Amino acid sequence: MPDNKEINRLIGVKIGSTYSVSAAREEHETPVTNVIKSCVSPVTDPDTTVLNDTYIGVERPDSVFPLDKGIIENDANILLTIAIINKLNIPPGAYVVAAIPALELTDGRARLKRALLESLKPAKMVLSPEVYCGAVTALGYSEINGKQRLKALHSDFLALNLGSTTTEVLIALHGERKYLKAFTKVCGNMVDSELFDTLHNTFGKVLITMPQIRDIKEQFNMINQKDVIVNVLTHSDGVKKVPVQKVVMSVLDNYVFNVSDLLVNILKNNLTPETIAQVLDTPIVLTGGMNNIPGLAERIEKKMRELLHYEKLTVLKQVDGHIAPAIGALTLSTEINWEKIPVA
Ligand SMILES: Nc1ncnc2c1ncn2[C@@H]1O[C@H](COP(=O)(O)OP(=O)(O)OP(=O)(O)O)[C@@H](O)[C@H]1O
Ligand SMILES: [Mg+2]
Repeated sequence: MPDNKEINRLIGVKIGSTYSVSAAREEHETPVTNVIKSCVSPVTDPDTTVLNDTYIGVERPDSVFPLDKGIIENDANILLTIAIINKLNIPPGAYVVAAIPALELTDGRARLKRALLESLKPAKMVLSPEVYCGAVTALGYSEINGKQRLKALHSDFLALNLGSTTTEVLIALHGERKYLKAFTKVCGNMVDSELFDTLHNTFGKVLITMPQIRDIKEQFNMINQKDVIVNVLTHSDGVKKVPVQKVVMSVLDNYVFNVSDLLVNILKNNLTPETIAQVLDTPIVLTGGMNNIPGLAERIEKKMRELLHYEKLTVLKQVDGHIAPAIGALTLSTEINWEKIPVA
């Protein structure tokens, strides 16, 4: 177990398909976080096109994102992932909790573990599901028998991680995981491609790139809608400016429906009425980057109430849902009995 003077050797990380994040305590009470995009792109000499270097962690039009569904799908992408994790500048010899996806693709997960071990060179490492780590942050602490204890370790709750390539669902009773699954059919990247397709089908030649589409989505506010203007190349009139906020709103509302419908089906098909009563008694915890969009959490709450005809249902959202799992991983690192964990 690292003693108090080694508290800065405790590290939480989340290596996501779109965002990679580290969290450490350093000398401060509040965690210090580092957030980068999980991507790499070549830097070539414009004259000779010779490869000079690589950009890591900053998205460019030719960026490669080596992770998909939070895992590494082939050996070639391990090296790219190592380069991304190295960019987080985590000192070797740390006690690391890594938030990882709940997908059951063991090869992909083994490759991710390999990349984490090779880049971080930790003293010890524990893997924990991303949705659980995010819920740890959202739920915080409560007092039990005069002691501050993490609510996620002992309470009943339902949590949703709204990521870029997966949506993860966790149901816990008395802190014990009863249901944990990742779904790929509903995710943030699908909102990007649906927005891209709908804009082109509605307005024709819209002059826009996928990174720009994602920026529009990430900056959108579903409560207080501002104008979103795109350039469209027309046959007769050259380039025209067109407002598209209604399209963005309807694509995001479709995502809200899909997330809510997914959750309602899980409740209906996998859980006993008693479990449903237990978990719906407390707010549904939202984590992951998609929950950052203002108004999205409220609309999921409204849609869930509508679909279930259950007015008592509430959701609990977080400010930085893409960062929350790394902070939760760091919080968990203080609860772990590191003596029992084998050397990495
Ligand atoms: N303000 C925002 N900040 C960050 N991400 C946002 C924001 N608004 C929406 N998003 C979307 O949230 C998703 C990123 O969330 P998150 O970081 O939780 O995913 P990830 O962990 O990288 O992906 P995965 O879990 O699928 O591997 C992307 O689709 C991103 O566009
Ligand atoms: Mg994620």
